[in-house]
Amino acid sequence: MSTFQPGTDQRYALLEGTNVHDVPIPMIGLGTWPMTGAQCHDAVASALAAGYRHLDTAENYANEDAVGRAVLGSGIPREEVFVTSKFNRQWHGGTESVRTALEAGLERAGLEYFDLFLVHWPNPDQNRYVQSCESLAALVETGLIRSWGVSNFSPAHLQAVLDAGLVPAVNQVYCEPEDAQRPAQEANTAAGVLTAAYTPIGRGSGLLQNPVITGVASRLGRTPAQVVLRWHVQQGRIAIPKSADPRRQRENLDVFSFELSAEDTAAIDALDVSASGGKSPGRADPEVFGH
Ligand SMILES: NC(=O)c1ccc[n+]([C@@H]2O[C@H](COP(=O)([O-])OP(=O)(O)OC[C@H]3O[C@@H](n4cnc5c(N)ncnc54)[C@H](OP(=O)(O)O)[C@@H]3O)[C@@H](O)[C@H]2O)c1
Repeated sequence: MSTFQPGTDQRYALLEGTNVHDVPIPMIGLGTWPMTGAQCHDAVASALAAGYRHLDTAENYANEDAVGRAVLGSGIPREEVFVTSKFNRQWHGGTESVRTALEAGLERAGLEYFDLFLVHWPNPDQNRYVQSCESLAALVETGLIRSWGVSNFSPAHLQAVLDAGLVPAVNQVYCEPEDAQRPAQEANTAAGVLTAAYTPIGRGSGLLQNPVITGVASRLGRTPAQVVLRWHVQQGRIAIPKSADPRRQRENLDVFSFELSAEDTAAIDALDVSASGGKSPGRADPEVFGH
């Protein structure tokens, strides 16, 4: 099977986990929720034209079809684009069940494989998330996925997976400066799991108007979104900002030609309300929410 080949102008990390070895993933990907249909297709097409090589979709977003069409219609070789998808709670369980979810996702997308396939939420009420991870690790051998991981897993959920002898390559979690979820990140890092930040620029929360962010941005001649995305990648996190706008898409990808100083990084780190037990209203609790 073909593998994602990093281009010279892409910055990427290497995924490691159970049955996953050295799979390159671009540090910046395009988030696609809540776009569907033609809007999603056009956004993905413009992102690919702008140089994005990493796309984030999910069964729950009802847009795997639009993402797949844009990839296949782009003229870019499939192996140069990294596609992540995720599956819903009804499929949690043994290999056959997760394989059914995977094959249905691939069918909707019109793709032969996903580069990364995630348990979207742990749904602890079902208590089948550890078994789902076991199934994902086994499915790597089929060639239908290149790597696997989890999303919205708290340190306790992750520990249950680790206790079963399994290491996910990625934990995709809510993370932005005002709610950085350090305990989740620290648990990921300690286990060798790469953190991918969703809602990386705060989804319209007012983060991009925060004076600390705008102050750094105006001093560096960058936009607030670029400063926040640089903060993610400089700390080793994948970030998947969503934009339907070609200009903002280009802006969000252009974060590799400047650096934040230690002082600026510390000032942005200090915005975190989760450090004192707080939580952004936009972050759902995986103990009670999931699909
Ligand atoms: N695993 C999970 O459970 C989970 C949950 C939520 C999200 N996600 C994934 O993460 C992705 C991103 O998260 P998100 O959509 O919640 O939030 P986000 O990417 O932090 O924010 C998206 C919002 O920011 C705007 N925006 C984008 N670039 C901008 C810029 N340079 N300047 C100003 N505004 C800008 C977008 O508007 P325009 O489109 O108009 O530019 C959109 O309204 C999702 O699309 C999805 O793929 C995963």
